[in-house]
Amino acid sequence: MKPDRKILTNEMDNGSRLVQNMNKDQKDRRDKMDKLKHWDRFRQYLCYHEDISLSLDISRMRFEDDFFRQAEPQIEKAFAMMRELENGAIANPDENRMVGHYWLRNPDLAPNGQIREEINAAIRSIHEFARKIHSGQIKGQFGREFKNILVIGVGGSGLGPRFVGDALRTSGDKIRAYYLDNTDPDGIDRVMELLDKDLDRTLTVVISKSGSTIETRNGMEEVKGMYRQAGLEFARHAVSITQTGSKLDETHKEEGWLGTFPMWDWVGGRTSVLSPVGLLPLALQGVDISLLLEGAQRCDALTRNEDLRSNPAAQMALMWLYATKGQGGRQMVVLPYKDRLILLSKYLQQLIMESLGKELDLDGNIVRQGIAVYGNKGSTDQHSFIQQLLEGPDNFFITFIEVLKDRETGSPFIADNSTSGEFLHSFLLGTRNAISKKERESITITISEVNEITLGAVLALFERTVGLYAFLIRINAYHQPGVELGKKSAGEMISLKNRIVDDLRKCSGCKYTVEALAEKMGEEDIEAMFSILRHLVHNPEHGIKVEKNDSPNMNIFQYVYYYRG
Ligand code: PA5
Repeated sequence: MKPDRKILTNEMDNGSRLVQNMNKDQKDRRDKMDKLKHWDRFRQYLCYHEDISLSLDISRMRFEDDFFRQAEPQIEKAFAMMRELENGAIANPDENRMVGHYWLRNPDLAPNGQIREEINAAIRSIHEFARKIHSGQIKGQFGREFKNILVIGVGGSGLGPRFVGDALRTSGDKIRAYYLDNTDPDGIDRVMELLDKDLDRTLTVVISKSGSTIETRNGMEEVKGMYRQAGLEFARHAVSITQTGSKLDETHKEEGWLGTFPMWDWVGGRTSVLSPVGLLPLALQGVDISLLLEGAQRCDALTRNEDLRSNPAAQMALMWLYATKGQGGRQMVVLPYKDRLILLSKYLQQLIMESLGKELDLDGNIVRQGIAVYGNKGSTDQHSFIQQLLEGPDNFFITFIEVLKDRETGSPFIADNSTSGEFLHSFLLGTRNAISKKERESITITISEVNEITLGAVLALFERTVGLYAFLIRINAYHQPGVELGKKSAGEMISLKNRIVDDLRKCSGCKYTVEALAEKMGEEDIEAMFSILRHLVHNPEHGIKVEKNDSPNMNIFQYVYYYRG
């Protein structure tokens, strides 16, 4: 007999409802257990320091409870190496340099009296110079007070002050800061357009430790030309921050600029934000640099503590080791839930990737280390890459930054009896939970508010984490051979471009395909020549033209190039 279809369907409905209910009960029980587990781990691992209003929560990383015990011998060695570094050892062996950024916020730790006095003198002169600019004692050439600074510097000579300056920017700032960090002519124009009417009220701060970085030199030369065109002497509107004896140092002396501030060989670019590189632009903006240094100093002091439970830098370095297996196996996503901290991921990208991205370890073995860093801000990224973090490959860990204070004043209630800040906070908590539910990992750094003390602490926290992690994986975090390689091959391309231009100019009107020209010049890198010629014909300066003729079968590689003066 055939079963009654209706009864069967009802039974199936009842059955699946039962399974559904059981599933729901199980899920509720599991959720409850998860929450209790989270709370237990949270209480066990939360590392809070009232001194810097900062806490670190690593409980959402899924390491086993004995991970710290197992890592003890490694981290002890890293602590010992860090102690030597702070005492003035040659911690950057390739460049035979000491690594002294920790002395910048506590000069008493400097290995000798001369360095101590140089740091103190630099800080005094920054305060003094900022005072003179703010009070109008130093004015622009037309007698008007300065109201802008234009910082020209790249990488470590730009990102730090830019990040901190943006994070602390208020409508009450004494000076507005603008930045140039590239040799992109259109990029330069975009910034300079904003300053056009006020060039005489703009103080240009040229920052380069080496004093010979091409992006910085080019930006400076273009800007000099613009001051000239406005009838202004650049020297009366410029200060430099560089090492003694560098090319920039010579230029500022020859031209008699308004002032100069030191950069020392024992400070690396990406750890220079609390040297004059960061302190001068920030002091000019009106940031309280003493508090910034104080926050960093406090964080340094507590991250020297070798008790892992209370040392957030050591904990974070060990979490990087755990997450990446010490081999860069995972990317780090930086997610501050605060618009003011938007540049944090850019800043950390440079600090971490330039420090840790290394081919060789300290013993010369090929290790190809690094941690890829990217990020932006929450909750904006909820509508962007968080989708992939939740459902795509599990190849990352997140560092959430939570800021407790929403804004200076109270906020209106928008919906659900809640303010915008409460929504932002619940997005952070929600994303963090969703990430955990998908068994993906995260660290959370919480600060009470964005101010000089907490930012100083955050800078120091990441600097020390990078230092400890580099020692854990035994690499030199303080050199950048890859960057040097890139600079060298860019130089080779400029001389190839010059040879091409010279060759074409020798015979005005002579026409060559790229291959014919390469053969004539005896040049093997035809692809580079093709690319250079294509760029030359899009720009007027050298008079290089292209002829395509009308043949329908002609392809891009048969175009001919010539000089028409
Ligand atoms: O961190 C670094 O060392 C680099 O990013 C440098 O800061 C960058 O290359 C700029 O160098 P300089 O300050 O010599 O112009």
